[in-house]
Amino acid sequence: MVRISVVGTGYLGLVAAACFADLGNRVVCVDIDEAKVASLKSGKVPIWEPGLQELVARNTAAERLFFTTDYREGLAGSQFIFLCVDTPPLDDGRPDMRRVEAAVTSIAASVTHQVVLVNKSTVPVGTGEWVEERLASGKLAGSPVSVASCPEFLREGSAVQDFMYPDRIVIGCPLPDVAHRVAELHKPMAAPFVFTDLRTAELIKFASNAYLATRISFINHIARLCEATGVDVQEVARGMALDSRIGDGFLSPGLGFGGSCIPKDLQALRHLGRSYGIDTALPDAVLSINRSARAWVLEQVQELLGNCMRGAEIGLLGLAFKPGTDDLREAPAIDIARELQRAGCTVKAYDPAALNKALALLPDLVPARNAWELAEGADVLVICTEWNEFRHLDMKRIASIMRRRILLDGRGVCDPAAMRKLGFVFRGIGRGQAWERGSGQRA
Ligand SMILES: NC(=O)c1ccc[n+]([C@@H]2O[C@H](COP(=O)([O-])OP(=O)(O)OC[C@H]3O[C@@H](n4cnc5c(N)ncnc54)[C@H](O)[C@@H]3O)[C@@H](O)[C@H]2O)c1
Repeated sequence: MVRISVVGTGYLGLVAAACFADLGNRVVCVDIDEAKVASLKSGKVPIWEPGLQELVARNTAAERLFFTTDYREGLAGSQFIFLCVDTPPLDDGRPDMRRVEAAVTSIAASVTHQVVLVNKSTVPVGTGEWVEERLASGKLAGSPVSVASCPEFLREGSAVQDFMYPDRIVIGCPLPDVAHRVAELHKPMAAPFVFTDLRTAELIKFASNAYLATRISFINHIARLCEATGVDVQEVARGMALDSRIGDGFLSPGLGFGGSCIPKDLQALRHLGRSYGIDTALPDAVLSINRSARAWVLEQVQELLGNCMRGAEIGLLGLAFKPGTDDLREAPAIDIARELQRAGCTVKAYDPAALNKALALLPDLVPARNAWELAEGADVLVICTEWNEFRHLDMKRIASIMRRRILLDGRGVCDPAAMRKLGFVFRGIGRGQAWERGSGQRA
């Protein structure tokens, strides 16, 4: 049984810990958040992620998964320490490295035995080397702590599945025997390995997320062109995706990307470029298009309601930045709600997982327990998150209980023709052709 410690028990760390435990390892999670650790010790998982609650319960019961706030207890006898603390963006886009620094300092003060420190947090290029230097100085000088980088590519909403069945495992480490030991630990996941150095591993993570973001902003740019020219972006995307050089991943037009990773990593990449005097036109454009994607909702509401915005009731279907999670970090729906409230609208919302977290951020948000309560008396409904349950709503019933039947589809969930047949004034991002065909003119 391999002994693993995971430092930082958030969306990444808890999933990694529970999965490693499920693969038969003994895993101890260390976190400074006492409330979170107490909750986990009592069997309550503080985040919403499919399959995670069961995985944590099963492995806690099997005595393979433990939680503590005590570094010494948490790191005792471990062969691998996975660093999974958060690296949120600072105002200038740089990742805030204070938690990484604090965790490395605590690790340095707590280990005296041979161990491999594997960094999974998304960190700037050069961080692994900085950690090596930090650990080689002071009290730990000469101690056998080796450093590796193993960036994580899981997605919230399918995190357990992604962790267990990754497309590739990137291992950055200057020492082949250490890289080999990290690879052994990941063997059950049966994915191809990319063995490389620390800096390359760190940049692969940023480059991957920035590329995905670029695809989303690209198709959102095309969506705008579709609206202007009367073309349906869904057809364009399908026509592009069948080209084997392009493929269909991350080619869904909508309200843009959010979450704690892609926007932050793109900003970090831009900061890296700036710090080396490299042109940042590409990340600048991707971020700017992403900002304007969420502005689409306010533009449509303004155009359709005109002077009647003050007091209008707008219902948001979905708040989380994507389906399958309760994460609201950089969620388009939160910005949209704020803008609509600023314009004098009453904003109601329903989300299967993120509603309580949203109420903490937006105290004036009116919560709805389900889609019907949301639609009752609403002037406009906006689909902000493509939860599966929104794909199967009885839209006839929804139409019958709204005050005005205006439907804005920010996630490509609805069939425009079917919605218009039910009497909705329908607008979907990039669905230009649908507007033209349905009403003879832009609705
Ligand atoms: N969330 C994702 O989907 C995802 C995917 C891939 C990579 N990442 C990267 O993983 C890292 C963590 O992201 P997250 O979403 O899990 O963050 P998170 O905020 O959900 O979790 C971070 C955890 O670290 C703990 N922590 C902070 N400082 C600590 C310290 N000094 N010692 C011990 N624990 C400490 C916090 O209390 C928190 O529980 C980030 O760098 C992120 O970019 C995240």
